[in-house]
Amino acid sequence: MAEFKCEKVLPYTDSEEGKKEQISKMFDHIADVYDPMNRLMSLGQDKRWRKKAIQRIGDFSPKRILDVATGTGDFAIQAAQSLNPDYVLGIDISEGMMEVGKQKVQQLGLSDKIFFEYGDSTALSLPSDSFDAVTVAFGVRNFSSLSDGLKQMAGVLKKGGVAAILEMTEPENVFFKLGYKIYTKIGIPVLAKLMSGEINAYNYLPASIEAFPQGEEMKKLLIESGFSKVEIKKFTLQTCTFYLAIK
Ligand SMILES: C[S@@+](CC[C@H](N)C(=O)[O-])C[C@H]1O[C@@H](n2cnc3c(N)ncnc32)[C@H](O)[C@@H]1O
Repeated sequence: MAEFKCEKVLPYTDSEEGKKEQISKMFDHIADVYDPMNRLMSLGQDKRWRKKAIQRIGDFSPKRILDVATGTGDFAIQAAQSLNPDYVLGIDISEGMMEVGKQKVQQLGLSDKIFFEYGDSTALSLPSDSFDAVTVAFGVRNFSSLSDGLKQMAGVLKKGGVAAILEMTEPENVFFKLGYKIYTKIGIPVLAKLMSGEINAYNYLPASIEAFPQGEEMKKLLIESGFSKVEIKKFTLQTCTFYLAIK
């Protein structure tokens, strides 16, 4: 039973499969074009957002980091390059996305630091209280159960550990919002069709952002999920929100 509107937003509306299966299929399908599409659609901002979020958790000097919904590994790579941790584990339900990530990690000579494993963020099979930081970029919106995913993140964190969550958001400012709507409803689907031929994935993107709990609502949910303190920061005309949550 869906608890949040975003859990009911699915990429393939004519499919009988559940959200987790559809999401893993969709990302397997777009894995090869995901990185260039990301750069293009965010107008290069996604790299900057990840960098800023990782810089902020540098204050906590995390040594063991879990990157959930790691995809092609960009957040894990940024963490490994900026924070000098001992160990970064990236987990995802799309083997196709992680395959691209593994190749990047190898090329960057980070294979002794970053490891990938198949894993569902809403049902982690990792020990409790075992990580100093948990990160997730553009992943939580895709969870089949948002509260299970956030509770699992809090569960594997040590007390005093930090979670860094980046997620796309709809701007509140009316002028930014108008530009955002035009861009996401017209610009993104056109770009997606041209570059990937996968229109479902990029129609799903604005629909899932619109349905996702944002700002104070998300903060409340993080507190209910086991975090004690939450900071919110908005980036680039309020189109991306960074939540820093401390257990
Ligand atoms: C938009 S991509 C983000 C990838 C990466 N974090 C980044 O910064 O580019 C979302 C990723 O979340 C993964 N994902 C969605 N639901 C998941 C779940 N329940 N458990 C693990 N991974 C999940 C998808 O397979 C996909 O690779």
